[in-house]
Amino acid sequence: MARAAPVAEEIAALRGTRPSSLKELLTHRSFSRLLRAMLVSSLGDWVGFVAVASLVADEGGERLGALAVAGVMLARLLPSVLFGPLAGVFADRFDRRKLMVGADLGRGAMYASMPFMPGLWAIFLLSFLIECLSLLWTPAKDASIPNLVPRRQLSNANSVGLITTYGTLPLGASIYTLVAGASNGIGAHVRYFGLHPQFLALWLDAFTFFFSARMVWGLDLHQNRVARLRAGAEAKLNFNSIVREAKDGYRFLAAHPMIRAMTVGIVIAFAGVGAVISLGPVFAQYSLNAGSTGFGILITAFGIGMGTGMGLMNSLARLLEKEKLFVVAMLGTAGCAVVVAAMPTLGLAALFTVPMGVGTGLTWVTGYTMLQENVTDEYRGRTFATLTISARMALFAALVAFPALAAAIGPLTFTVGGRELDLSGVRIALWVGAAVVIMGGMFSWRGLRRSRLARPRPLSLAPRLHKREGAGVLIVFEGVEGSGKGTQMELARRYLESKGLHVVATREPGGTGFGDRLRETILDPATGTVDPRAEALVFAAARAQLVATVIRPALDEGKVVLCDRFIDSSVAYQGAARGLGEQDVLALNAWATQGLFPDLVILLHIEPEEGLARANDERDRFESEDLAFHAKVADAYLKIADEHPNRFHVVDARGTPEEVHGRVREGLDRVLAPPDAGPPGQT
Ligand code: TYD
Repeated sequence: MARAAPVAEEIAALRGTRPSSLKELLTHRSFSRLLRAMLVSSLGDWVGFVAVASLVADEGGERLGALAVAGVMLARLLPSVLFGPLAGVFADRFDRRKLMVGADLGRGAMYASMPFMPGLWAIFLLSFLIECLSLLWTPAKDASIPNLVPRRQLSNANSVGLITTYGTLPLGASIYTLVAGASNGIGAHVRYFGLHPQFLALWLDAFTFFFSARMVWGLDLHQNRVARLRAGAEAKLNFNSIVREAKDGYRFLAAHPMIRAMTVGIVIAFAGVGAVISLGPVFAQYSLNAGSTGFGILITAFGIGMGTGMGLMNSLARLLEKEKLFVVAMLGTAGCAVVVAAMPTLGLAALFTVPMGVGTGLTWVTGYTMLQENVTDEYRGRTFATLTISARMALFAALVAFPALAAAIGPLTFTVGGRELDLSGVRIALWVGAAVVIMGGMFSWRGLRRSRLARPRPLSLAPRLHKREGAGVLIVFEGVEGSGKGTQMELARRYLESKGLHVVATREPGGTGFGDRLRETILDPATGTVDPRAEALVFAAARAQLVATVIRPALDEGKVVLCDRFIDSSVAYQGAARGLGEQDVLALNAWATQGLFPDLVILLHIEPEEGLARANDERDRFESEDLAFHAKVADAYLKIADEHPNRFHVVDARGTPEEVHGRVREGLDRVLAPPDAGPPGQT
């Protein structure tokens, strides 16, 4: 069976997609901004978390302290229960950047004002409100990552993001200790700080949210066109429409076996973490007799494993398809948990805790990445909101259920063959946890298999007919309707010919007798609705004919071929706007063109409204699509260009034809005058 990963990789190589290095991601302008925001605000969040707990514990005093801390926890859990199902609607409906900035400012202000609040109830209320805002922030962030970084960087971005969010927990606790210590120090001079060691930490936390708001404000989320239209076009947001959209989100989730499978898998991974955290201390102290430090060692081993798993994800995804990796990781985690629960000593338990962490980390990142790759922008906010909420609930449920189960079973010892076997409730509860994870893994596997059967297998690329060395150059013009491709191609042709180059100009669909007949049919409004797959095949068929009879022969003669639209049109129109998915469209077209991709794509960028206004009255099947369709095309083009900076030359298509031509020339000169060789196609 053809394996998906290598085919995708081969296409990536043909298209000149750059490999995804961590260094590139960390220096990515937008992502590094978001990362700074996440790093600082999650650090702040953990500091704030500890500070609030300590504040209410103080206020509650010896008798009610523990209850007060539980009250804060409850206040932070409640928003998920009450509003969780609706939170994602906001992330899908509004400008995600503004939503995140607003949430950050709100949270900052509330943390800053917490020291001035009169009593426990006010703090509970603020905690509740802060959590409501977090409920908006997190799905907006998760849904934005695919709009922020190139697709190939998604898994790296998720690993880094998750490590930042959860890896900062221990650091946050230490920072709190430091700040509280400093506050006590100042307290020698200023009594106020001595009396309230938490205040400084709360203000520090407020500051981190303001910093995050500043960082997020500067992000370019590319979401603009589609989101702008959606926000403008739809009816006002009221309770009914929120509920309707939330339901719509669930329906989407339920209708896609793979997305459902991923969500359930991740939620169960969270429950597993909950089991480890809640059972760990008792397990370390009593089952392993490792004293109070044992738990710290186990958690460290788990953390090391998780970090490693997240880091390994990209390399492992090259060996194994992500779907399989996800399930293998889940089952591996469960297997290790079974072993860990049976271990007699701390050393052995810690040894197997590391691979258990690796499995959890892998499950987590693979799941997130697959969701981001497969859920369209429109539903992403809701999908991630559902995920965040269910995961949190699972975590809390596990925190309560597993210790309860362990306590209910109690200590059990058996004597087998003269040796005493300790089969405590804790061990059994851990095994039950592992069994739950195994069931989750099986569920995911079934869902994934079903979605794989529904998906076409990648086409074989053999025989591999890439472009010959020393052949001509293929330059493609792309853009939305009315971006002026025709005019610009003509100007480019004259320019290149004036330089003595031999130019062949053609267009898609068409350029051959057969292709022109297909063109007529597929563009004619009288053709009516065409299934997106049928449409993709027609364009691929016209393209195959054009490549075989016009483009390849011209390239073989060393000519420069200018083409009005090529594969990226199919990726943008059929892949993105019609929703067929980038990978399938690419695989189909790589087969149709036998691996021929352009040397340069000149993308004439114009806002879709402006372009459509330029189109004449007689509209073809595509020009008659609504604005949202064209907005998706425009966004897709920019995203593809962003991923292939070496191969794309993006040109602002506004201005006079001559002005635009001047910009186009820069791109032409780039490929036609390589520094070390004379221009190809010279006659
Ligand atoms: P065309 O007249 O070439 O468009 P324009 O003059 O606006 O550039 O018509 C081609 C139409 O077909 C255009 O709306 C885009 C669409 N198309 C696809 O959807 N997929 C493809 O692969 C190609 C080549 C075109």
